Amino acid sequence: MNILLLGSGGREHALAWKIAQSTKVRKLFIAPGNPGTAAVGQNVDINANDFDALKRFALDNDVQMVVVGPEDPLVNGIYDDFKNDARTTHIPVIGPSRKGATLEGSKDFAKAFMARHAIPTARYKTITTQNIDEGLAFLEELKAPYVLKADGLCAGKGVLILPTLQEAKAELRHMLDGMFGNASASVVIEEFLSGIECSVFVLTDGKDYQILPEAKDYKRIGEHDTGLNTGGMGSVSPVPFATPEWMKKVEERIVRPTIDGLSEEGIDYKGFIFFGLINVEGNPMVIEYNCRMGDPETESVMLRLKTDIVDLFEGVAQGNIASRKVTFDERAAVCVMLVSGGYPQEYTKGYPIEGTENVGESIVFHSGTAVKDGQLVTNGGRVLAVSSYGKDKAEALQKSFEAANAIRFTDKYFRKDIGQDL
Ligand code: AMP
Ligand code: GLY
Repeated sequence: MNILLLGSGGREHALAWKIAQSTKVRKLFIAPGNPGTAAVGQNVDINANDFDALKRFALDNDVQMVVVGPEDPLVNGIYDDFKNDARTTHIPVIGPSRKGATLEGSKDFAKAFMARHAIPTARYKTITTQNIDEGLAFLEELKAPYVLKADGLCAGKGVLILPTLQEAKAELRHMLDGMFGNASASVVIEEFLSGIECSVFVLTDGKDYQILPEAKDYKRIGEHDTGLNTGGMGSVSPVPFATPEWMKKVEERIVRPTIDGLSEEGIDYKGFIFFGLINVEGNPMVIEYNCRMGDPETESVMLRLKTDIVDLFEGVAQGNIASRKVTFDERAAVCVMLVSGGYPQEYTKGYPIEGTENVGESIVFHSGTAVKDGQLVTNGGRVLAVSSYGKDKAEALQKSFEAANAIRFTDKYFRKDIGQDL
């Protein structure tokens, strides 16, 4: 079949790499894609949020499935748009409906959903300018540090963790005053949870699911988790504490109740769910839901998924995911992200990238690159995701670090402590 994949980052290059290995695929298109995806499929210059142009392209090119990488097209309702148009209703979109994507698009919706279905998560209260006094009183009840979250999408920047009650109260007012625009018109105040995080991914057809390899990502720019938050500086799979026993708790307490809850509430959901979990004294709790795969988790998860991913997508589209079989690669997989110096703040684009052919067995996924006059150049904060297999995490990391050193561009930076905490 012909597949159209949407997005342009490292996650999408890893998905494209995996989809292209399927025997079921005739043509793979990526809109808009990047220089990495161009090596495994055909890039199409259409914005992932231009639904009319995407539908026209799909019809003209006999596309039989659309796979959505990033959250924005989902939150903007691409699933519903294809479904409700008689011309495209036969083309399955792998991704939730607009309502389903609200699990990521609104923190308040996600928290209320978890409360309705008794899914373990931090205690919380949602505050607007109407009930700010309740918010201040709730902060008094909690212990430091304090967690404030903008309700809406903020490209990963909408969460503040504050050490003192005084700062928490001040920042609550700033957020309500429009610190993140309309996204922080409502603010979720949460109890702080202490533990190690783990990302768990499932593919669901809305009734059943298959669990994919789990991963841990590294969000802060600095080594030993210091400095500003980024989109993600690396990932590791498997995660040692995600034992069969722990994953059983995840499945029984979190995954099954989430899928049943969506189904009971009549929310159409056929796609990935990313459970951002935290391990609190052996018990998994939900930090957040995302309606898509993680980046850079996908860059190690796809290496560990042995199954033909298009077979799983067909299971999602046809509503028989339960009958599909998922197998994992026994090896470890890791990803080390090479970023532009200055990221996640100001940085320069357009530096030539050299040495991508000297990476041994590593697989280099493109996150933020471009081709200018025939030369590969940096074109984003996160530039290249250097992924490797190993018999264990240490061997995989060694390969990625060697490859990371072999690749050269001005002001290249990467974290050398990925995986060390596990
Ligand atoms: P989120 O966007 O909800 O994933 O939050 C961003 C990051 O903030 C998470 O990955 C956690 O590291 C941290 N965080 C969010 N909520 C909490 C919480 N309730 N307790 C501790 N850390 C949290
Ligand atoms: N790596 C975290 C995310 O994709 O949101």
